Amino acid sequence: MLHENLTVNALGHLCIAGADTVELARQYGTPLMVMDEERIRRNFRIYKNAMSKHFGEGSFPAFASKAFSCKYIYKIAKEENVGIDIVSSGELYTALKAGFDVSKSFFHGNNKTDFDIEYGISNGVGHFVVDNMTELDSINEIAGKKGIIQPVLLRLTPGIDPHTHAAITTGQVDSKFGIAIETGQATEAVKYTLTRKNVRLDGFHCHIGSQIFDIKPFCDAARLMIKYISSLKVELGYEASILNLGGGFGVKYIEAQPELDYAEFIRLVSQFIDNEVSVSGIKKPTIVMEPGRSIVADSCLTLYTVGGTKQIPGFKNYTSVDGGMPDNPRYALYQSDYTVCLASRMNDECDFECTIAGRCCESGDLLQENVLIPKPQRGDILAVLVTGAYNYSMASNYNRIPRPEVLGIKDGKEFEIIKRESFADLIKNDL
Ligand code: LLP
Repeated sequence: MLHENLTVNALGHLCIAGADTVELARQYGTPLMVMDEERIRRNFRIYKNAMSKHFGEGSFPAFASKAFSCKYIYKIAKEENVGIDIVSSGELYTALKAGFDVSKSFFHGNNKTDFDIEYGISNGVGHFVVDNMTELDSINEIAGKKGIIQPVLLRLTPGIDPHTHAAITTGQVDSKFGIAIETGQATEAVKYTLTRKNVRLDGFHCHIGSQIFDIKPFCDAARLMIKYISSLKVELGYEASILNLGGGFGVKYIEAQPELDYAEFIRLVSQFIDNEVSVSGIKKPTIVMEPGRSIVADSCLTLYTVGGTKQIPGFKNYTSVDGGMPDNPRYALYQSDYTVCLASRMNDECDFECTIAGRCCESGDLLQENVLIPKPQRGDILAVLVTGAYNYSMASNYNRIPRPEVLGIKDGKEFEIIKRESFADLIKNDL
């Protein structure tokens, strides 16, 4: 199967972490997301171990929690002793409620409001990753009023095109994020930041994009950032102590994609860093990375109940399911690849080509086009694999459809991570 946590049992049912998905769907209803906790922990450990081995002891991953944000994941992050990347006061609130020590958090975003800054500083956010100088002024002012010195990083755009979907590319000069090195604005921002009394500039951040399979853009970005850091030492006498390289490593969604060896990628990036450090003579900064997708995506699948099929002779076939873009908008947004299988009949021949349609009043509400599965009957359970990243976190209530239940599996037993939304939840803010 696509990943080693997926198997088929004697009943011909798809299993995740040993649990029968058809049984779970019957017991908990659908749409249902099921997450393999061991897989999440394993992914965290791959990063943690490789980063401390290759970058040095102080280096650590900070989970990009936009990929999946709920109390459960922050508790796991706490137990695995990693940092987090947060991008809103809502994510910060959730992390605090989970008991996460937010001194190990990086607060992102290209438009942090004064409320965000106030809330972040009051709760002891470790670093703000500053996007622009008006934001820096606000952080400096609010920190000043509180009589503290707030640690910050500056988000820089290294001018790298990683060749991924345009909507998830972020490191190019004309990006809405960060400050460009190429235009000279980054150096102006460094000079300005160093004159502000209530912020402490600890270093820099960059993030080139997401779902990237090629190592080269990561190595290029690391080299460029280290070169830039060493140029600042010469020009301004300023030496950065932290370099945060963002996230972006690709995940295998379909057979045609490779399963990346993240530890090997980290080793390769570290070679570029070490090279540049030895040439320039700067002190090697603490390296932080912000994996999101590659921590949670392959821990999870989503189960749906098939409503039926529609065959349009000479055109196409549809299989309709009881979820869709409200629980997974990624195909509608980015035409994302997914592997689809009929979880209740894994041993039957896949000879029915169809498009998987969601239940919304919207033609674009599709989960995948032209997949091959056994011809489904009403009531069959259909699985979409590798749905742990940017699915629940981007879910909506479009058409007033409640968000799904999220279950965890640990030691062969299931437990609830997020309850299914009820109809009462849907109207709780309606007056
Ligand atoms: N750090 C920063 C500053 C980011 O903006 C992101 C992702 C990450 C880290 C994590 O990147 P990852 O390791 O997950 O690739 N909604 C889109 C993905 C948007 C990514 C946004 N930033 C999707 O569903 O594909």
